[in-house]
Amino acid sequence: EELRIFAPATVANLSCGFDVLGCCLDNVGDEMLVRKNNLNQLRITRITGEELPMDIDKNVAGVAVLSLLKRLGSDQGFDIEIHKKIKSGSGIGSSAASSAGAVFAVNKLLDEPFSPKELILFAMEGERLASGNPHADNVAPALLGGFSLVKSYEPFEVLSLPSPEELRMVILHPLIEIRTKDSRAIIKQNVSLVKAIAQWGNLGAFVSALYTNDYDLLGRSLKDEIVEPIRSILIPYYDRLDEVAMEAGALGFGISGSGPSVYALCRGEENAVKVKDAIADFYKDQDIDFQLHLSKIN
Ligand code: HSE
Repeated sequence: EELRIFAPATVANLSCGFDVLGCCLDNVGDEMLVRKNNLNQLRITRITGEELPMDIDKNVAGVAVLSLLKRLGSDQGFDIEIHKKIKSGSGIGSSAASSAGAVFAVNKLLDEPFSPKELILFAMEGERLASGNPHADNVAPALLGGFSLVKSYEPFEVLSLPSPEELRMVILHPLIEIRTKDSRAIIKQNVSLVKAIAQWGNLGAFVSALYTNDYDLLGRSLKDEIVEPIRSILIPYYDRLDEVAMEAGALGFGISGSGPSVYALCRGEENAVKVKDAIADFYKDQDIDFQLHLSKIN
C-alpha cells in the first residue's frame, strides 16, 4: 500500500498575521511517496533535491509522523521518500511541506484516524524541530488549503478562511538561505500598544476583506510595523522590490514567512504576470540568482 502526494508550499504571516495567518499555493511544492512496511519501523528511505537528515529523529517528516504514531499507539512501519522542490530556508514553508505531507499521507494509509485539523498538531512537531518553535501558520494551510487563521495556540484552535477567486500570489525567492531559527532570533519580544493596535486593525480588516471579496482592502491591510522592518534588512533590495511590485499594480507586498522570499498579492492572472515580469526585470540586473513563482491560492 503506497501513496504519492503533492506537499504544497505555503506563505505564512502575510504581513499583518505574524504566526497566525498563512495560505497555501497550488503549483509549488514537493512530492512524497509513503508506503507501509512490515518492519514496524519508520524509515526515511530516500531524499532527493536537498541534503537533509535521513535519521527520523532529525528529519521534520520523521518527527511529525512519530508523534502521530505515538498518539495512536501504533507500531505500523512506513517508508517515506521525500523529493524536495522547495529549498530549505526559502521562506515558503519547506519544512512545513515535509511535516504536513508526511502526516497527511500516513493518516490516509491508516484509514484516516485523525481529521485534517488534528493532523496540524503532529505537523507542528516538525516545525518545532526546524525552528525551535511549533508555529502552525505554514502547516495549517498546507493541510487545510486556502487561508488559515490560528485563533489561539493554547488551547489550539484554527479556522479556515475563504479564498477570493481572482487572487494570485507572485513569489520571488532570492537564492540565499535564511534559517527561520535565525530570523526569529532577531525579532523584538515586546510590542508597543500603538503598533499592536495597527496590527490587529489590519488583521481584522484582512479577514473581513476575504469574506467580502474586497481586493483593495486586502491590499491595504497587508502591513506590518512589527516584524518586517527588522527582517527586511536581511533581504537584498527589499524596499526597491516593494516599489517595483506596487508600481506594477500589486495589491500588497511583504516578506513570505521568515524570508528571504517575498510575496506580491495580485488581483487576476494578467496583473500577476505583469508584476512577475517587473520583478524579474529588476532582479536580473542584480547580483543574486533567483526563482519566481506565480500561483493561485488553493
Ligand atoms: N511565522 C513563522 C515566522 C513562519 O515568521 O517565523 C516561518 O515560515
